[in-house]
Amino acid sequence: MKALVFHGDHNIALEDKPVPAIQKPTDVIVKMLKTTICGTDLGIYKGKNPEVEDGRILGHEGIGIVEEVGEGVRQYKKGDKVLISCITSCGSCESCKKQLYAHCKDGGWILGHLIDGTQAEYVRIPHADNSLFKLPAAIDDEIAVLLSDILPTGHEIGVQYGNVRPGDTIAIVGGGPIGMSVLLTAQFYSPSTIIVVDMDDNRLALAKEMGATHTINSGQENAVDAILAIAGEGVDVAIEAVGLPQTWDICQRIVRPGGHIANVGVHGKKVDFEIQELWIKNLTITTGLVNTNTTPMLIKAVSANRFDLSKLITHRFGLDEVEKAYDVFLNASREKAMKIIVNN
Ligand SMILES: NC(=O)c1ccc[n+]([C@@H]2O[C@H](COP(=O)([O-])OP(=O)(O)OC[C@H]3O[C@@H](n4cnc5c(N)ncnc54)[C@H](O)[C@@H]3O)[C@@H](O)[C@H]2O)c1
Ligand SMILES: [Zn+2]
Ligand SMILES: [Zn+2]
Repeated sequence: MKALVFHGDHNIALEDKPVPAIQKPTDVIVKMLKTTICGTDLGIYKGKNPEVEDGRILGHEGIGIVEEVGEGVRQYKKGDKVLISCITSCGSCESCKKQLYAHCKDGGWILGHLIDGTQAEYVRIPHADNSLFKLPAAIDDEIAVLLSDILPTGHEIGVQYGNVRPGDTIAIVGGGPIGMSVLLTAQFYSPSTIIVVDMDDNRLALAKEMGATHTINSGQENAVDAILAIAGEGVDVAIEAVGLPQTWDICQRIVRPGGHIANVGVHGKKVDFEIQELWIKNLTITTGLVNTNTTPMLIKAVSANRFDLSKLITHRFGLDEVEKAYDVFLNASREKAMKIIVNN
């Protein structure tokens, strides 16, 4: 089969690989229909994840059709259309029993990381009963791909950890796919003011279309001053959706007493944590890896078609063009790219 294979820092290639086989009774083999590239894949490509081995097939998002089922699988049969969760979970270990699936003792983020992933014609999904979701017919195939990772991440680590409530003023720092997912799912909870900060005017314009009440280009103005001019004493919730010291710093300077900072960004470098300013503010500060415990709820919400998620999808490629798709996503600002669908 064709698959996108990682060979170390800045080295990926579309290659022929063997079709995966069932290894454990709880495995399923899925024939991929659609996948996508994540900012996290770009991180691997750029050498941020030295634990990823040479020869690994990348990708942790997508939808497909069940091709083969291990004898221990109860919920799925050949021919079922499924959503693949970016998080694999056994459902029965100590972490899973707390719905902390990100920390499953035999799972977590392993797809396209520690085991072969979804940017291929077929993928093996361990613990399939707990790591796949049946897709209702009401959800468009391309929109479904957004449910593997970005929508649960924005919702759980941004909105739920940040405790967004009706009437709140919130600031989302970073308007990439994750920031946009925070923007969309925050609106379930009716905040009154939603400020999105980015340096890309194209992304800020999209944020306005998707429900932001204010946008700030932090490359052109001082984001902290601009946010405080809108929010007065500060925002109720600041959500970091970039993963850089500068954007963390914006978040820690804009929160009002009693507010929340929810860090979603994956940080490759240490940040300055101004605890001497923050301690007196009665804040909560949260961070973490998506658990995908709200995916079933999001599948229902998306089925109801409340939001036009199709605006997040900007490009489409075939799997045979996946190297070109990486190139476009690596130059997302120049190419005006948000989410890229890769079709099998
Ligand atoms: N916690 C989790 O479970 C989880 C899951 C998935 C992704 N992530 C992380 O979330 C982060 C965002 O992901 P993404 O796919 O949206 O990434 P992205 O790179 O597409 O988006 C980041 C956005 O931040 C903007 N930006 C960069 N520097 C900025 C600055 N100084 N000021 C303001 N804006 C700036 C960019 O223009 C871009 O629009 C990444 O760090 C990613 O690894 C976390
Ligand atoms: Zn992802
Ligand atoms: Zn588990």
